[in-house]
Amino acid sequence: MSAPEAEPMWWRSAVVYQVYPRSFADSDGDGIGDLPGVISHLSHLADLGVDALWLSPFYSSPQADGGYDISDHYDVDPLFGDIVDAEDLIEAAHRHGLKVIVCMVPNHTSDRHPWFLAAAHESPGSPARERYIIRDGRGATGELPPNNWHSAFGGPAWTRLPDGQWYLHLFDPRQPDLNWEHPEVRAEFADILRYWLDNGVDGFCIDTAHGLVKADGLPDWRPRHGPTAQREADESRAPMWDQDAVHDVYRTWRAIIDTYPGRVLIAGARVSAPDRLAHYVGRDQMHQAINFEYLQTPWHAPALRRVIDASLATTSAVGAPSTWMLSNHDVVRHATRFGYPPEAPLPSGIGPADPQPDRDLGLRRARAATLLMLALPGAAYLYQGEELGLPEHTELPDDLRQDLVWRRSGGASLGRDGCRVPLPWKGHPPCGGFGPETASWLPQPDGWADYALDRQRDDPSSTYTMYWYALRLRRFFRLGLGTLRWMDFGPDVVAFTNGDVLVVSNLGDTAVLLPGGEPPLHSSIELTDPASVPTDATVWVLRVGEY
Ligand code: BGC
Repeated sequence: MSAPEAEPMWWRSAVVYQVYPRSFADSDGDGIGDLPGVISHLSHLADLGVDALWLSPFYSSPQADGGYDISDHYDVDPLFGDIVDAEDLIEAAHRHGLKVIVCMVPNHTSDRHPWFLAAAHESPGSPARERYIIRDGRGATGELPPNNWHSAFGGPAWTRLPDGQWYLHLFDPRQPDLNWEHPEVRAEFADILRYWLDNGVDGFCIDTAHGLVKADGLPDWRPRHGPTAQREADESRAPMWDQDAVHDVYRTWRAIIDTYPGRVLIAGARVSAPDRLAHYVGRDQMHQAINFEYLQTPWHAPALRRVIDASLATTSAVGAPSTWMLSNHDVVRHATRFGYPPEAPLPSGIGPADPQPDRDLGLRRARAATLLMLALPGAAYLYQGEELGLPEHTELPDDLRQDLVWRRSGGASLGRDGCRVPLPWKGHPPCGGFGPETASWLPQPDGWADYALDRQRDDPSSTYTMYWYALRLRRFFRLGLGTLRWMDFGPDVVAFTNGDVLVVSNLGDTAVLLPGGEPPLHSSIELTDPASVPTDATVWVLRVGEY
């Protein structure tokens, strides 16, 4: 099965919609979303006007980390369906004019992967152990881990096997890190890529792309800002992240994918700065990279201008498009994040005992931030449910939490369940149309029905309609392929032109007057005065005059 003939550079300006299959739509009533559920809602994605869907992992997995712990890369987990469902999904998406991007998780496997089962079963020094990073410990009897690295999910990054050796896991102990120096590991992933390319996928988003290669000798590391490996990612040149040799892997992958025209590699690499990220993209590596720095930028005009400038400059220097993202399956949804003051630290999960966000303010700013993002040149990434203005579930009781981060951090971090709550499709039971049964793997909070797609679709002022119309205008004015030119409307305003469209986002306290008096094309809230942009709003204007 092959992908349809594609506009070769479709990805440069694409709007990519992330589907977290577990929470998208449940077809069989087990309370967990699945691939047939995704197929049944493809028309929603096509109507919305996105170009591609990006599926979080649906492969065979014990589901220790929501499927990011893969035990068979060639098959579908029975929770989500089977391989025929995956093939049907790819074909049906193509019929709807949608590209399909799948997640690839090369840094680690599940501890139930046959390779790791063999490694754990065989003795020290056996070839099976070479495929992972397995070492003797330190101390008189090897009782101490080989180095002082911490796992991104908390605790040490090493776990001891019954025979006394230790294996490395930058994430959970059930996610052992592969040894990317090993030719069999490289050959296996080349095969996995070809398998899914032959099945018709249009691209891969590479999870933890900065992690595969570790510094020689696995030296100790003392992070400046705290003990977790995730924070270490903020430090340039930590020995477990962003090593130069990782790029050899992606050069090989690019050579493979170039034999399949129109397919794309996307780097999910958390690195210290846009210039480090730019190393992952370009003619001989990936086509684009997720912009985590933009995702983390608060609702603050100077910070936004800075990150947009840096992103455009560094990616254009290597001939790649920039990308933009406001929410995903790992972070607090932006409709909630923006309901806190911009200087508030980014929480990892919010619980009933925490200060609650200002919901109206959060949604108002989220809508403004979305219209800003969708006007930027490059590719834009949406996370399922943001088109409904969905907030985070901020009052999930602890006994219902599922994310391993919650348990592994001993409750210090509430984890990522709040952004993974099943979608409300209908404003009535059962389960807001998520599935045929009343219960879902995470409960929807009270009031979720108000966000349901069927309540929003015909409402001209709804968040859904705002996205719908923005995506049409974005396509019509080819904003994804345009060029940004800054305009000066004062320090608290982010304003620019992109081709024929003037974009003004007002983050200040007073309304901003628009030049020229041209009627707005689109706005993030209903405008009482078409000649001015109120606080926390974005307006798109057709540029008639010269400015
Ligand atoms: C994914 C997370 C996952 C982690 C470990 C990240 O890049 O986005 O959801 O827990 O990798 O696989």
